[in-house]
Amino acid sequence: PAIDPVALSEIAERVALEAGRLILDERPRDLGVAETKTSDTDIVTVMDQRSQDLLLTRLGELRPDDGFHGEERGGRAGTSGISWVVDPIDGTVNYLYDIPAYAVSVAAVVGDPSTPGTWRPVAAAVVNPLSQECFTAALDAGAHRTVGAGPRRRLRVEDAPLGVSLCGTGFGYDADRRRWQGAVVAEVLPHVRDIRRLGSAALDLCRVADGSLDVYYERGLNPWDLAAGWLVVTEAGGVVTDLEGGHPGATMTVAGGLGNHADLRALLGRVVARVGQEKDH
Ligand code: IPD
Repeated sequence: PAIDPVALSEIAERVALEAGRLILDERPRDLGVAETKTSDTDIVTVMDQRSQDLLLTRLGELRPDDGFHGEERGGRAGTSGISWVVDPIDGTVNYLYDIPAYAVSVAAVVGDPSTPGTWRPVAAAVVNPLSQECFTAALDAGAHRTVGAGPRRRLRVEDAPLGVSLCGTGFGYDADRRRWQGAVVAEVLPHVRDIRRLGSAALDLCRVADGSLDVYYERGLNPWDLAAGWLVVTEAGGVVTDLEGGHPGATMTVAGGLGNHADLRALLGRVVARVGQEKDH
C-alpha cells in the first residue's frame, strides 16, 4: 500500500503527546538513575522504559504491521516496510536534573533502522512536554510547530552566514569520544557566533528548523536521536548530512540551511583533518 506521510505524522504526534504527558505527569519526585548503559554517564530512568512501553503499545494498536525500534529494551520487526524509530526521552540527563529541555521523539521510517544508511524518515513528531512545543513533519508536506493549543506555524530554516551562526552540538557518553569532541568544539568555536550544548539532539535539530539555532553538528548519534529531527529540518528547507554529504548518522550529523550547512561541513572536515581521529585522543 502507498505510504501516507501526513497520516503517519498525525499518529506520531498523537503518541508523542501521550508519552510526553506521561513523563511529565508521572515523573517521580525522587527520580533516580535506574541503570547505566555504555558508561556511568549513560543513564536510563524508570520513565524512559515506561514511555517506550507506552509508545510500543499504542503504535502496536494503531499500526500492527509496522516495525518498532526504540532506544530502550524491546522492539519488534514489522511486515509493512515502515518502522517506528522512537526516543522515549531524548535529553534523559536534563530530565533527571529537571532542566526543561527534553523531548519524546517519534519517527516513521522506510528501510531498516538497524542498518546505517539504509533508512529515511517519512513522518515525525518531537514533543517537549514542559514547554508544550510540538514539532511535526511529513515528507513533502512541510514541517510545523505548535505550542499548546496555539496556531500551527510552518517552519523555514533561516541560513545565516556561519560566522554569525549560533551552533548547537552535543557530546556522547564515552570518555575517549568526549576528548575528541572537546578538541573539535575548541576549533569550531572561533568560527561561529557561539556554541550551545542544550542536551537533546532531537530538540537541537528542531531548533535549527525554527531558527532558535542556526546550525548543529554532533558525532555519535543513534537513529532514535536523529530520525524525527532530521525530517523536521529537511521539511523546513534545511540540509542534514554526514561529513561527506551522505546519510547523517554515527560518524557525524551536520544540520543547517543550504549555505551555512555547506560551510560548517567544510569547516568540520578541516578540523577533523587537523585534530585527527577519535582513537588518537
Ligand atoms: C542524548 C541527547 C544528547 C546528545 C547525546 C544523546 P539521550 O540522548 O540527545 O543531547 O548529545 O548524543 O545520546 O541519551 O538523552 O536519549
